[in-house]
Amino acid sequence: MATHIPIFPASVPVSAHISTPAPAATIIPSGDGTTPLRDTFQRPLRDLRISVTDRCNFRCTYCMPRETFGSDYAFLPHSALLRFEEITRLAKLFVAQGVQKIRITGGEPLLRKELEKLIEMLAVLQTPEGKSVELTLTTNGALLQKKARLLKEAGLTRLTVSLDALDDTVFRAMNDADYSVAEVLQGINTAHAVGFENIKINMVVKRGTNDQEILPFARHFKGSGHIARFIEYMDVGNSNQWQLEHVVPSRDVIARIHAEFPLTSLDANYTGEVAERWRYVDGSGEIGVISSVTQPFCGDCTRARLSTEGKLFTCLFASHGVDLGAPLRQGSDDAQLQNIITRCWQARDDRYSMLRSSGLQDGKKIEMSYIGG
Ligand code: GTP
Ligand code: 5AD
Ligand code: SF4
Ligand code: SF4
Repeated sequence: MATHIPIFPASVPVSAHISTPAPAATIIPSGDGTTPLRDTFQRPLRDLRISVTDRCNFRCTYCMPRETFGSDYAFLPHSALLRFEEITRLAKLFVAQGVQKIRITGGEPLLRKELEKLIEMLAVLQTPEGKSVELTLTTNGALLQKKARLLKEAGLTRLTVSLDALDDTVFRAMNDADYSVAEVLQGINTAHAVGFENIKINMVVKRGTNDQEILPFARHFKGSGHIARFIEYMDVGNSNQWQLEHVVPSRDVIARIHAEFPLTSLDANYTGEVAERWRYVDGSGEIGVISSVTQPFCGDCTRARLSTEGKLFTCLFASHGVDLGAPLRQGSDDAQLQNIITRCWQARDDRYSMLRSSGLQDGKKIEMSYIGG
């Protein structure tokens, strides 16, 4: 067992790493955006991740294994999916409560028909201070070649592409759906050509599966203007048979790359940034590592997640969400919906990654393919 990985020992109270919870939450009048909405650990609501479909054209073995997500899997019926108008109405309420960045996820978001129309609707949202909302999207890249220009023209500001290997055999084995590396690289090139800059390329590193790809991956994107990022493999969902020994700690990833291409650390772009940034000493760009297992970042987690049918989840590892879709469809007005959001965020005490090692978390978690990264 890889017990050498330093995750917070159970003997260290979580409160040593996260500020003390506030006393019983008082309900802040909603909607004026002037009073920041805070949870029980005083974390503000800043980011909203919207899942637009629970389906995916890939069957990544660590996310949607075919044994679970086979032809008889019950995906959400079309009628349950929030329509673009419904998503936009809810997104507006979140922005009024302090959200500054929206990320569109899935499943695979580019499978959602005419997604560019939703992007157009969200791109015009402004914060109470009159600033544009940052609008970004995470995709597996297979449909990017077809969609990149439409997304750019619709007002998408940034793009993140998942790619787990450059070796075609390794990649095909991981996505288990016969997609080639070349298709994804073509999508990235097209996205770059239509004007997306500093594209982030996320690789989930799983020991014994693709960790031999770390160096080739770094080498390939070095000097490209894209930002390669290495993610510690997490125990999301219920079906990926996660084991701690499959995690390659970020510090080992950095050591491996540094040995060939010297690196130096960079400051975070903003408080609560998930990735730790490094740059090549020779000036050929930047990489990132995301250490959700060995260095959990719950203390600064400002992310809310809205599922495809309108459930609000306050943690990637939550077992249930608060329904916004049903009240919206039953005719609740904006103040009522905003009150649900406010109460939910003010009651939030999630810190799953910090509790992971203590065994305090139990119950069925939501699937990553359902709620998005
Ligand atoms: P930007 O800084 O805006 O580019 O966003 P980001 O770094 O949050 O990027 P992204 O959404 O691509 O997240 C990268 C990966 O980090 C995800 O695929 C997850 O594996 C992990 N991650 C993101 N958010 C969380 C989170 O709230 N909790 C945990 N445990 N992991 C997360
Ligand atoms: N651990 C870490 N990241 C994961 N992702 C999916 N499953 C996991 C996991 N078990 C990432 C994908 C993609 C994003 C949507 O979430 O690779 O970058
Ligand atoms: Fe793979 Fe992302 Fe699809 Fe999951 S949602 S199967 S990680 S491409
Ligand atoms: Fe946020 Fe939950 Fe991830 Fe911690 S585990 S960073 S609380 S989403």
